[in-house]
Amino acid sequence: MGPKFVEKEIIEESYAAIERLRERLCGAHPYYFIETYGCQMNEHDSEKLAGMLEAIGYRRTDDRTKADFILFNTCCIREHAEKRTFGNVGFIKEIKAQNPALITAVCGCMMQQKEVAKRLAARFPFVDMIFGTNELHIFPQLLEKVMDGGRIFEIKDIEGEIAEGLPIKRSEGFSTFVNIMYGCNNFCSYCIVPYVRGRERSRRAEDIIDEVRCVVREGFTEVTLLGQNVNSYNDNGMRFPELLRRVNEVEGLKRLRFMTSHPKDLSHELVMAMAECDKVCEHIHLPVQSGSNRILKLMNRRYTREHYLELVRDLRENVKGVEITTDIIVGFPTETEEDLEDTLSLVLEVGFSAAYSFAYSVREGTKAAAMDGQIPEEVKKERLARLNAVIMSSVNGANDKYIGREGEILIEGRDLRGEPMMFGKLGSLKMVYVNGDESMIGKYYKVRITGTRFNSLVGEIIE
Ligand code: SAH
Ligand code: SF4
Ligand code: F3S
Repeated sequence: MGPKFVEKEIIEESYAAIERLRERLCGAHPYYFIETYGCQMNEHDSEKLAGMLEAIGYRRTDDRTKADFILFNTCCIREHAEKRTFGNVGFIKEIKAQNPALITAVCGCMMQQKEVAKRLAARFPFVDMIFGTNELHIFPQLLEKVMDGGRIFEIKDIEGEIAEGLPIKRSEGFSTFVNIMYGCNNFCSYCIVPYVRGRERSRRAEDIIDEVRCVVREGFTEVTLLGQNVNSYNDNGMRFPELLRRVNEVEGLKRLRFMTSHPKDLSHELVMAMAECDKVCEHIHLPVQSGSNRILKLMNRRYTREHYLELVRDLRENVKGVEITTDIIVGFPTETEEDLEDTLSLVLEVGFSAAYSFAYSVREGTKAAAMDGQIPEEVKKERLARLNAVIMSSVNGANDKYIGREGEILIEGRDLRGEPMMFGKLGSLKMVYVNGDESMIGKYYKVRITGTRFNSLVGEIIE
């Protein structure tokens, strides 16, 4: 059975609501402010909400005190995300006191946890709209109800659908996101995402390719395909390596990236697709989470340390110049000193170009939250510091090999700290600093690496 698509009539009704709201504004262009927490998935959802707001006639501001509509798109991956959100929503009270017409909304993963959403609604009576991750496509209808004087609390328990055809206001630049799938079925024992994002569902390949063509026409040259686990993409039998090859054919596209890959599903076919597709960047984000087989098993990751190292070997053998980045959790329930040593030694063995490290955070409702052997906070903190020291030393050491190499960078901007220089990334995601000026932004340049600078590289332009 394929995924459930939102009916065309409902999308049409959203467009009708956008029109009605537009008329209601009578040519006014009020300001909206969106604050986004969490991952690229959330950032991209905010671009969809911004797309609908702009279609209604709103314009963006970065100054929340000036805003007529304030939206928080929340994350709940770790506990501190929650604390920060409650704090920031609380601050709105004063802005609302100054501007009673202000509309305040909170959405995203954290609101999909009904208990938390209820707590937020009770604590902040001035919040007008609370909605979950499955309601984005009916946002215009919800906003209309608020303008009619209602208060919205809309969180559905549905498995999750796919909504096509809504407007998107993409962040400026040359790089943008395209969703290929939503949700997650993996239920890693520590993780809240499957509970707040619903079941895994893949978009149709032709919808994805159409969207990539469309963003290329808008001037973007780099696309990142998004999914919690892109390696389980499946559109009626079309798997991710095939999709990657098809997107690689899109004319005008220069660079293709994807996130995130789950090691249990990373196939040799994908490695070969990466190797053979000229636009696919030589980078993969491959979260390992732990180097201990015992912990990996408790995490329900369904691969071993040895399998992970095998994947690294396959990637390095076939994808020229590939860089690997990762995520690591320390302090998972029952983690011993020995388990931690296994993680530290894996970091040194692989030589990641970047590793994002986290102290395990208990998420209510997940399997790991109920496990015996929870690790005290001070121990987690101390282990995180040790992991970070190992990451730092191995990443810095790995930069020297670039000296003398050539590559291509997409110039993103000017760095004003220290000596002003232009910066851009290689396909491997390594940041390179070069001399130059603003006219270079958005263009691709061949460079030769001449040195290193903190965590990045310095180069000279050769073409
Ligand atoms: N879908 C991606 C990860 C999404 S969450 C994947 O499977 O790789 C991003 C990262 O947050 C995870 O890789 C993990 O390292 C971290 N994370 C998730 N849940 C966590 C928790 N309860 N405590 C600490 N870190 C967590
Ligand atoms: Fe969470 Fe695991 Fe799914 Fe990633 S694959 S979102 S870590 S459950
Ligand atoms: Fe992303 Fe946070 Fe949700 S990491 S999927 S925004 S819980």
